[in-house]
Amino acid sequence: MIPGAPSRTAISAATHRAAHQLLDGGCIFADRLALRILNAEPAEILASASAEPARGAIRLFIACRHRVAEDAVARAVADGVRQVVVLGAGLDTSAYRSVHGDDVIWFEVDYPATQAWKQRRLREAGIAVPGWLRFASIDFETETLGARLAAAGFDALAPSIFIWLGVVPYLTEAAIFATLEYIGGLPGGSEVVFDYADPPANWPAELRPMLDARAARVAAMGEAWISFFEPAPLAERLRGLGFVEIRDFLSGPIIAEYLPEFAVTERARGGHILWARSG
Ligand SMILES: C[S@@+](CC[C@H](N)C(=O)[O-])C[C@H]1O[C@@H](n2cnc3c(N)ncnc32)[C@H](O)[C@@H]1O
Repeated sequence: MIPGAPSRTAISAATHRAAHQLLDGGCIFADRLALRILNAEPAEILASASAEPARGAIRLFIACRHRVAEDAVARAVADGVRQVVVLGAGLDTSAYRSVHGDDVIWFEVDYPATQAWKQRRLREAGIAVPGWLRFASIDFETETLGARLAAAGFDALAPSIFIWLGVVPYLTEAAIFATLEYIGGLPGGSEVVFDYADPPANWPAELRPMLDARAARVAAMGEAWISFFEPAPLAERLRGLGFVEIRDFLSGPIIAEYLPEFAVTERARGGHILWARSG
């Protein structure tokens, strides 16, 4: 992050979500506020989406990570979970579209400048902050999630689900595992959904140009990707932090699951969406 400045990659992720509504009819992930929160014309979104063909796969991956998260939240709420925490929320609109009313409390946790900028954007877009939403600011690199959430009224003794999309690659391993250790150790029980990527050297050759171009773009925005993981050692580490059930979805197959016409070649590497539950 550029100190004191809002995240620019948050706009990119939100633009992909809006493009998914316009180009794919929201077939994987429907977000009726995606366009409104950006305060952009559809033509602008479409121009950005068609700037590079590789953006199609990124857009669908982003749609999938939200779909996995939304399905996990729906299951968790059906099982009695009443706290949902969106980490590094950016322009995510999940809390504003919640259908659970005051029964489910949402927390949005983000870098202070990004959060202040989002709140301005919400006002400009005329999107009301619902009564069930609490804000907590954090720098994952220098502050502890537990303290920031406690100050916002989070109940560590009650079950919770954490959604952490498009954030892990930007953080140091120390910040990532401190956060996961907190989530995995919560006495009330917890689930987490986050995404990560294989180390670039392990990506299939045909995906490398897309990865390199995207990496260069985010680095130019002052938000370089710095953390990558191998699936098996990551799962091992998560087990050591208290997670007993882990599901890891690879980008190509998960996109094809929701969109059968998406052509998947046999790929063992790429972007991953991970769901885990603590024991
Ligand atoms: C690519 S955006 C993703 C936003 C959102 N989760 C989404 O899917 O649209 C990255 C997010 O991570 C947050 N972030 C990055 N580094 C952070 C840090 N050190 N502390 C807190 N938040 C951070 C940014 O503020 C931004 O909201």
